[in-house]
Amino acid sequence: MPPSTERMPAPTYVATPAAAFLRSLPVDRQLLPYDVAGSIAHVEMLGSAGLLGPDEVLTLVGGLRRVARDVAVGSFPWRDDLEDVHTNVEVRLTELVGSVGGKVHTARSRNDQVALDERLYLRDAVHGLARRLLELEESILGRAAPERETPMPGYTHLQRAQPVTLAHWLLAHFWRFDRDVDRLLATARRADVSPLGAGALAGSTLPIDPTATARRLGFESAFENSLDAVSDRDPLAELLFDLALFAVHASAFGEEIVLFATKEFGFLERTAALGSGSSLMPQKRNPDVAELVRGKSGRAIGDLVALLTTLKGLPLAYDRDLQEDKAAVLDAVATATAVLDALGALVPELRFHVPRLRDAASDAELYATDRAEARVVEGLPFRSAHEEVTRTLDDAPVGGADVAADPLAAVGRRSTRGGPAPASVDRQLASAQARLAAHRRSLSSLGRKVELVEELLKEEQR
Ligand code: ARG
Repeated sequence: MPPSTERMPAPTYVATPAAAFLRSLPVDRQLLPYDVAGSIAHVEMLGSAGLLGPDEVLTLVGGLRRVARDVAVGSFPWRDDLEDVHTNVEVRLTELVGSVGGKVHTARSRNDQVALDERLYLRDAVHGLARRLLELEESILGRAAPERETPMPGYTHLQRAQPVTLAHWLLAHFWRFDRDVDRLLATARRADVSPLGAGALAGSTLPIDPTATARRLGFESAFENSLDAVSDRDPLAELLFDLALFAVHASAFGEEIVLFATKEFGFLERTAALGSGSSLMPQKRNPDVAELVRGKSGRAIGDLVALLTTLKGLPLAYDRDLQEDKAAVLDAVATATAVLDALGALVPELRFHVPRLRDAASDAELYATDRAEARVVEGLPFRSAHEEVTRTLDDAPVGGADVAADPLAAVGRRSTRGGPAPASVDRQLASAQARLAAHRRSLSSLGRKVELVEELLKEEQR
């Protein structure tokens, strides 16, 4: 199949003076592999339905694979005058294979096509994000396990409250990220419905088989309603929420790292891994990485708000407003990926200042609850014990009372479920490992679906 040098005219449906405004190519070109894989599945289905002859299927699939290869090696002649990725593929295909290229769009619209591309993209994006999140969780677990007996103060209102351990603090962040993985995987499960075959809005008069393309592309099922299928952006909205909440979790983690690296706290050594220096003040070692992790949450939240605002009040079925969905989604995925990479590099490099943590955890104030609870064991109503301890805090120097300011003993007493006692933390570590294993299993079955796109693009002609 010799490549044609002939330049196809732009299809007339984009001949408008507003062409530049309508263009989505700068954003949606990232969807190309999904677009081509979807077209291959579509062409094969058209062949099975008798809408294309066997030779036409061979020619079209061969041309589509050629397009994917050219894009992969950077030799695809992208044309800015063609408004989007779908048109670029179809026009180039027709240059490569001749007029049979015009049959690829049989019984299909860019409306179901873009909805399909987005779902294939989402599957891949969730896979990449969840894999990075699992790596981050593993690294947090690895840091937590040896710190089961490293006391530190726990805070409420950012005031010293009760003693906990460094392991317990790290694991608290682990569980937030663990729920983020869970949400992403659930989002991918709900998105596992193919919209291909919905056409522009009302299916087709031709005998197409949407369940066949759904199966070929690894989807659990095909759409139930064509109007819904071309307009449904729920999976993208969910993904953006998942990423916004992840970014909020990451920013809270970043905030604690920033605080702990201050001279006032002194819990973290100000190593080079935390960030850089100041161009003016020679003594500065700034926790830039954690600060920027904190800062990126604004972008992620903004992307969610942007998409929801675009979707609000849109009539069924496809409206051009929907084109705006991709910029928000691609930005949020890139932002979350960057945050995960930064945290992945930072966590193994955190150097905790254990003597500072232990000193802070030995502050007598942290033992007031223990003293009140010791009186409860003796039979005093808790409210009276609380008052009694409060009085000693006000009137006399603290400490020297019945309960010693011994952080490890105090932590060891907190052996209730989910508490900071080393025995409780052991149970917590075991549950964390079990969760990770379950998530790894879900991730690998998602991974098999993700691979289908590459397989379709590469597969030898059957
Ligand atoms: N570029 C469009 C988008 O991203 C593709 C669908 C265009 N459909 C249409 N009827 N103009 O949404």
